[in-house]
Amino acid sequence: MKVKKAVFPVAGLGTRFLPATKAMAKEMLPVVDKPIIQYAVEEAYEAGIEHIIFVTGRGKKALEDHFDRSFELELTLKDKKKDDLLEMVQKLVPETGTIIYTRQNQPLGLGHAIWCARDIIGDEPFAVLLADDMIQTQGESVLARMVNKFDRLRASVAAVMEVEKDQTDKYGILDADHTEDRLYRINDMIEKPHPDQAPSNLAIIGRYILTPRIFEYLGRKTKGAGGEIQLTDAMKMLLKEQPIFGYQFRGRRFDCGDKAGFQMANLAFAMERPDIRERLLKFIQEIKSEA
Ligand code: UTP
Repeated sequence: MKVKKAVFPVAGLGTRFLPATKAMAKEMLPVVDKPIIQYAVEEAYEAGIEHIIFVTGRGKKALEDHFDRSFELELTLKDKKKDDLLEMVQKLVPETGTIIYTRQNQPLGLGHAIWCARDIIGDEPFAVLLADDMIQTQGESVLARMVNKFDRLRASVAAVMEVEKDQTDKYGILDADHTEDRLYRINDMIEKPHPDQAPSNLAIIGRYILTPRIFEYLGRKTKGAGGEIQLTDAMKMLLKEQPIFGYQFRGRRFDCGDKAGFQMANLAFAMERPDIRERLLKFIQEIKSEA
């Protein structure tokens, strides 16, 4: 079965970004000129996803409006003959009926947010993208590569990367065996272990392809690290009956839920834009010489 649906959990409180996230999901913050969520949605389409499922909390309105038509804006752009901008805003709107919103009525954790999409997913494999993990790649996106792996392995796949040993308490960490180029077979995983207890420095990053069996374990609503219902804990249970693989992606990852990570993402993605790159480089030189 093909992976056609993707879940985007966007119901977190985003406390590290207050006050910006008081009335708006952090996924609506822009990197250069696009909301973070749009990068992830574009990545999903590129990977062949046909149905987008947003699990929202606060800030639902801005997100819904972003992916909907704005007749007033379109009319104004048309009148002003700004055809390229008109085309850009029109392209943002998915075909009606392919985008679904559901609400997580309490931010009980990432695992709970995904569980909220269970009826919409039904009995098929699906992708999960945490938009605040932005990954800059050359060529094919991380999710597209993961879909290929899933098609071959017919098993759940999580994106992984190596992190500094003293950073393990920020991630879900793997105990895994290297099987082939960039692929690990997971034996066990642990959420946010202290560096002394971490079985490796391989950390799960916000891209997953999961089999629907995961809902059985998410539905148990076991509270884990931080008192939250964690996806990692459900995956750990799933491991007892199904294999799960870790795919070590190539690319530069930014944690946009973190202030420094967010600024770095802005800089890195701005460098890809010929219209602003030179001005920024000049400015960086200027502040570097002042530092
Ligand atoms: P984070 O761990 O970054 O939490 O969530 P957060 O609440 O968004 O941010 P901080 O730590 O308070 O600053 C990881 C992802 O899971 C989603 C978030 O929206 C983000 O995409 N999430 C988290 C939910 O949808 N619901 C939750 O209950 C928790």
